[in-house]
Amino acid sequence: MSGFSAAWLALREPYDARARNAEVFSAVAALFKQRDLLRIVDLACGTGSAVRALGPRLAARQNWRLADNDPGLLADVANMPTPKDVTVSTVALDLTRDLEAALEGPIDLVSASALLDLVSKTWLERLAVETVARSISVYATLCYDGRIELAPLDPLDASIVAAVNAHQCTDKGFGPALGPAAAAAAIAHFESIGYSVVQGASDWTIGPDDHAMQLEVLAGWASAAHETGKLTEADTATWLTRRRDAVTAGLSSIRVGHVDFFATPMHTR
Ligand SMILES: C[S@@+](CC[C@H](N)C(=O)[O-])C[C@H]1O[C@@H](n2cnc3c(N)ncnc32)[C@H](O)[C@@H]1O
Repeated sequence: MSGFSAAWLALREPYDARARNAEVFSAVAALFKQRDLLRIVDLACGTGSAVRALGPRLAARQNWRLADNDPGLLADVANMPTPKDVTVSTVALDLTRDLEAALEGPIDLVSASALLDLVSKTWLERLAVETVARSISVYATLCYDGRIELAPLDPLDASIVAAVNAHQCTDKGFGPALGPAAAAAAIAHFESIGYSVVQGASDWTIGPDDHAMQLEVLAGWASAAHETGKLTEADTATWLTRRRDAVTAGLSSIRVGHVDFFATPMHTR
């Protein structure tokens, strides 16, 4: 088990789908528009949301290899209806140990959604070693960038957000996580090794009617903030109660900053 439940991934999927940056996706679609067949590896695929989001919108036939270390999530992939002209295979592996195995064979595109903020600088550079050696493009979406906007304002918001962002940098299994710095670090690194990068915001906008998503996100932040020990238990609980009350009253909205980017090597296959 990875700690990412299928229920949570299903709850966030429509917000992710709306948030994905259209210009960045257009750059992906444009690069591959003449291709008959696209071979894509999706790292840390969860239940396969990237296939559902992108498969129908790419012109070429597609072979997707979906890699994750959670067999329960991969079992859901096996049951998913696939878009026309799309084939999907799954591979269960731990990307901290077996990244290179996930990338074996001919690949045109590496996709990673909501992954890079979990990984360390060392792992990111290991990924780049693999992709640059074989001129593979990288499409990374929904990298959390540290921006959280909450309305209405609460006096404890800033302390909670600071604690959440500190928690994001703790080890998520890949070594000390890049957290909110992930997209900027990845873009700078890919550019430094000769990639050209298109990037854009892919923020979640969670409106006053989106009670389930708001309550889940707020509870997750309260738990993360509590784990850092940066706030008293009473302050975290008070903050969560006030924010939940605002959600129930239909007064709350949340924006969560994310970044998408598409990195293409000088000599694309
Ligand atoms: C935030 S979820 C994103 C899932 C999916 N990409 C999406 O956008 O819906 C992070 C994913 O990383 C996977 N993961 C975490 N650590 C991993 C590891 N060491 N090896 C492989 N997958 C891992 C989890 O199982 C989970 O599916």
